[in-house]
Amino acid sequence: MKFETKAIRTQTETTQHREHSTPLFPTSSFVFNSAEQMQDLFSGEEKGNIYSRFSNPSVTEFEDKMAALEGVEKAMAMATGMAAVYASFMTFLKKGDHLIASRAIFGSTFNMLQKRLPDFGIECTFVDPLDMENWGDAVQANTKMLYLETPSNPGLTVIDLEAAGHFCKQHNLIYSVDNCFATPYIQNPAKYGADLVIHSATKFIDGQGRVMGGMVGGSAALIEQVYLFIRSTGASLSPFNAWVLSKSLETLAVRMDRHCENAMKLARALGEHPNVQKVNYPFLPTHPQYEIAKKQMRHGGGIVTFELKGNIDDGRKFLNKLKMLSLTANLGDARSIASHPASTTHLRVPQEERLLVGITDTLIRISVGLEHIDDIVADISQALGD
Ligand SMILES: Cc1ncc(COP(=O)(O)O)c(C=O)c1O
Repeated sequence: MKFETKAIRTQTETTQHREHSTPLFPTSSFVFNSAEQMQDLFSGEEKGNIYSRFSNPSVTEFEDKMAALEGVEKAMAMATGMAAVYASFMTFLKKGDHLIASRAIFGSTFNMLQKRLPDFGIECTFVDPLDMENWGDAVQANTKMLYLETPSNPGLTVIDLEAAGHFCKQHNLIYSVDNCFATPYIQNPAKYGADLVIHSATKFIDGQGRVMGGMVGGSAALIEQVYLFIRSTGASLSPFNAWVLSKSLETLAVRMDRHCENAMKLARALGEHPNVQKVNYPFLPTHPQYEIAKKQMRHGGGIVTFELKGNIDDGRKFLNKLKMLSLTANLGDARSIASHPASTTHLRVPQEERLLVGITDTLIRISVGLEHIDDIVADISQALGD
């Protein structure tokens, strides 16, 4: 089956009510027919649902669909994207282990690696994502994992997934990729050897800014370990959120086609605006990793960033002049969203560190929505002072 068909037709078995749309199973636990069945389910002799922290049919449907779309054997869903990122580290790393991470990663992930994991005896070396030739210098005898994000949030750095896969093979590392910005429709890291594929389902997978969710996918053996971690630590996905997310996946392909078409048109329009210094979009030929993006991505994605002419205050002024775009801490919504990382998410990050990952004082991030492109361009142009 093709991507779109899998996204629509992967579904929980129909119940006795013969419903057409997928059912929702809001139940904390499941009933056993006998003490013997209860024992068999707990011992693992019989497969089935016991308690919704372990598994639930609505959650399993979302996991099966995500696994099919990412081209991996299995997936484990979680309460948020950060719960998925955390589970990916804590399942596979222990005290005394070391990992290498791209410096261009989501701020909370960076904080977790820099501030939280060392408390558990897990150390991280951050590397320049584009200086792959020197990644080898960061490898130690206790290095277990490589973690990266492509395209990155918010710098839109694109990393060569195939080359990173060779690096991991050569050094025998678990290869882990946060695929949140691309979604499984645009790129499948497992095709290039990624062992773990991570998502914040809160973004394009929901697509309408309603629920939180996360996921880790990979081989059945690795995901069994993630399942055991979540089962005993508790960041499971709620059945309701799973149901929303699974329904959302039915329209992921058509939504992403439009997000990307609008993003490409916006990137081109911004490129011609006199008050714009620089536009960043993976499918613009001026993007420094354009060739890599073209090789591994179906489209350029739904996020465009640009630099205004001016200083940090001009970034704030631009946001205040917007009339339609939302100022909100999310992305991947049907509604277009604008943010100014230097004065918000990265306010406390020293300027030198911000610049290393391309977050200049006037960088604006647009999550390009599904409104008519003319209205999106018009609002941004008037805020730029056309
Ligand atoms: C690339 C990336 N990974 C992970 C996350 C965390 O996801 P959540 O907010 O669902 O915990 C985000 C959130 O913005 C993100 O952009």
